[in-house]
Amino acid sequence: MSSAAGYITDVSYLPGFYPHLAPVVLRYVAALNRLTPPPATGFRYLELGCGLGRTLTTLAAAEPQGEFIGVDVNQQHTAVAERDIAAGGLTNARVVTADFGALPDDLGSFSFITLHGVYSWVSDDVRARIHGLLERHLAPGGLVLVSYNAMPGWAHLQPIRGILRQYAALRQGDSLQRIRDAIAYLVFIRDKQARYFVDNPRAAAYVDAIRSLDARYLAHEYLNDHWTSFYFADVAATMRRSGLDYVGSLPVHTNFWDLCVLPEFQELFRTSSDRLVAEAHKDFCANTAFRFDVYGRRPAPLPTVEDRLAAADDLCYGLSRPDVSLPHVGNLGIVTSTTQGPLYESLVAFLRGGSRRLSAIVAAEPFAALDRVAVTRAVDVGVATGLFEVTNHPLPVTVPAPDGGVRVVHPFNRTMLASDILSGRPVALASELTGSGTLLADLDAAIVHELVSGDRAGAVERVDARLAAVGRGIERDKKPVTDPAERRALLAEAVAAVEQRIVPNLLRGGILVPR
Ligand SMILES: C[S@@+](CC[C@H](N)C(=O)[O-])C[C@H]1O[C@@H](n2cnc3c(N)ncnc32)[C@H](O)[C@@H]1O
Repeated sequence: MSSAAGYITDVSYLPGFYPHLAPVVLRYVAALNRLTPPPATGFRYLELGCGLGRTLTTLAAAEPQGEFIGVDVNQQHTAVAERDIAAGGLTNARVVTADFGALPDDLGSFSFITLHGVYSWVSDDVRARIHGLLERHLAPGGLVLVSYNAMPGWAHLQPIRGILRQYAALRQGDSLQRIRDAIAYLVFIRDKQARYFVDNPRAAAYVDAIRSLDARYLAHEYLNDHWTSFYFADVAATMRRSGLDYVGSLPVHTNFWDLCVLPEFQELFRTSSDRLVAEAHKDFCANTAFRFDVYGRRPAPLPTVEDRLAAADDLCYGLSRPDVSLPHVGNLGIVTSTTQGPLYESLVAFLRGGSRRLSAIVAAEPFAALDRVAVTRAVDVGVATGLFEVTNHPLPVTVPAPDGGVRVVHPFNRTMLASDILSGRPVALASELTGSGTLLADLDAAIVHELVSGDRAGAVERVDARLAAVGRGIERDKKPVTDPAERRALLAEAVAAVEQRIVPNLLRGGILVPR
């Protein structure tokens, strides 16, 4: 089992696209929290621990105005990112294969630095090097996105990590083999009613959750020498020592305490004036296990709506889907929110005409006579609950279905559709209009690939052949379908569903265009 500063390197990680790392999202979190975001164009973006680079490359394709640099110590990872950069024609992205402690000093400064899946899994020394990089390379007004395993939500899972690592260390083979053996052992002791699992039923249930996860993920999560779950307050204090202040969190609803904690606790938050203390209490009330936090280097405050309009009015707000309706119910984990009422009726009706900037919304006839703070808050709560979405450019609500088929515009998206077909992992396609990526299930992506690269008539047969080539079955009501005619009928339904639900969304985002 080989490692870099205690981090495993003998097994490649999974390709994954994480939308929380998108500049458009980070800029919105700053604006939402009344802080000035970095500029939308001409920025530089650094991802520390970029893995196979799917987030980096998707964002580079979605933001051609930005320059994207990824860093990772694992050469197998950066080789995949380099291949995608070349095949996707991304002239604004590159990766550096290096330890965080060995980066060239002339890297320059960045408006965005992100690290996802890194901070909890490295040693104190490596974390100190990361802080050195943040201190040296984050531009004034720049934003950092850091994710980590959080307390108290991880408390009952800590012993699982301990036993997995200890058992894996006794086994032979590479990290994949060791983690598989360790998971089998974990299932065994849980099923035999080891007292820890009897006393901690949530930990017992978690064993079922992790046994279904990809062994590559589990090896990277549990087999590193270092693994820490942090209290928010400790991370905030360490960031402060690096000159960084807490800006807000993701997903967006976590910026609203009333969308994170149950009503019985809300009075506590209403009377708390210290945001850092409130965050710590929120984690306890919500039993937070993972955090995505945004920090900034002295971002300028935006005390009024007018200030926000002056500094961040390039973001566009629109309906998250053409078929949204009120009341809108959002399942936000602890809280289930219901969005309704006359203000939302007017907002939804207005945005049916397409997405708009905040200045256009507050100035429009139905809203101009209302309190701007209330309208802005309603828009933000709508984003938090999934009713609205934030994008870089205006998006139409619907695009007419083309008669003669569709094609993919960006070479990066063509590359993504054509590589890793039916790999079992979602496929991300980049949209310059949204400034982010759209995730498709692998079967849906394979169908889109067939629709854009061949005749519509033969799409079902070609998808069927691809499934057969990777040995993948189809199920109806959780039972395998073996009859070839029934299998084709099910695939025909899947192709029709992609044409009705997914193709229109990809046309809307400019990912597909009529042929
Ligand atoms: C869990 S993976 C996350 C990858 C990617 N951010 C994602 O979420 O898909 C952590 C990554 O950090 C890299 N890494 C760990 N320690 C490092 C170090 N000291 N210097 C550079 N990269 C490191 C690993 O090689 C790995 O690719």
